[in-house]
Amino acid sequence: MTTTEPTAPDGEVSLTGQRTRLREFVSADGAAAYSIVGDDRVTKFLSFDSRSPAAAQEMIDGAVQRSKSQPRNEFYLAMTQLDDDGLIGFCRLALTGVKAAKLGYAVAAAHWGRGYASDAVSIMLGYAFGSLSLHRVTAAIGPDNAASQAVVEKLGFVREGVLRDHVFTNGAWRDSVLYSLLHDEWAT
Ligand SMILES: CC(C)(COP(=O)(O)OP(=O)(O)OC[C@H]1O[C@@H](n2cnc3c(N)ncnc32)[C@H](O)[C@@H]1OP(=O)(O)O)[C@@H](O)C(=O)NCCC(=O)NCCS
Repeated sequence: MTTTEPTAPDGEVSLTGQRTRLREFVSADGAAAYSIVGDDRVTKFLSFDSRSPAAAQEMIDGAVQRSKSQPRNEFYLAMTQLDDDGLIGFCRLALTGVKAAKLGYAVAAAHWGRGYASDAVSIMLGYAFGSLSLHRVTAAIGPDNAASQAVVEKLGFVREGVLRDHVFTNGAWRDSVLYSLLHDEWAT
């Protein structure tokens, strides 16, 4: 459940859930971002290989820049704990097609298993189907990524099928399982 105003007058998004907050990235998040996207335990399940500190900083700076574009077609947000503004993960909604978006997320390995991803995805879905009035949100998840599949299944996503050789990562092509959630299936 979202407990704060989703969009400030300056357009910045800040969403607060039961365990996490999603806020706009700032350039200073670069070092903490490296501890996530530079960690093979995390990137094993993402669509890109582990990044260097410089590439992690570039990723954050790019997200900060894109967050200012209008119309905005990407909500790439930093995930923090409620009582600490430090970055522990990210959640991304990329608008695509008609009233649709692709969802992505990751949590630093040190924080796995505490319900952060479930909470962050839940508040992002509230924003997607509420403020953004989207109709369909999809998530493409590696067939072996049981934790991520558990996150979306708990939130009501429906398994649609397999995208063959969907991403090239860790030196090989990898299938994805495509999940979707429609507006009317989202329980607020
Ligand atoms: C997927 C990921 C984001 C989950 O983050 P998290 O904060 O640990 O997730 P949560 O604690 O909210 O929930 C994880 C759920 O997966 C379950 N889970 C964890 N490992 C599991 C496994 N091996 N098999 C089955 N379920 C598993 C947990 O039990 C939990 O479900 P529950 O709440 O019903 O008990 C995290 O593992 C991660 O960053 N992985 C690498 C990046 C990634 O995979 N991103 C998603 C790409 S699609």
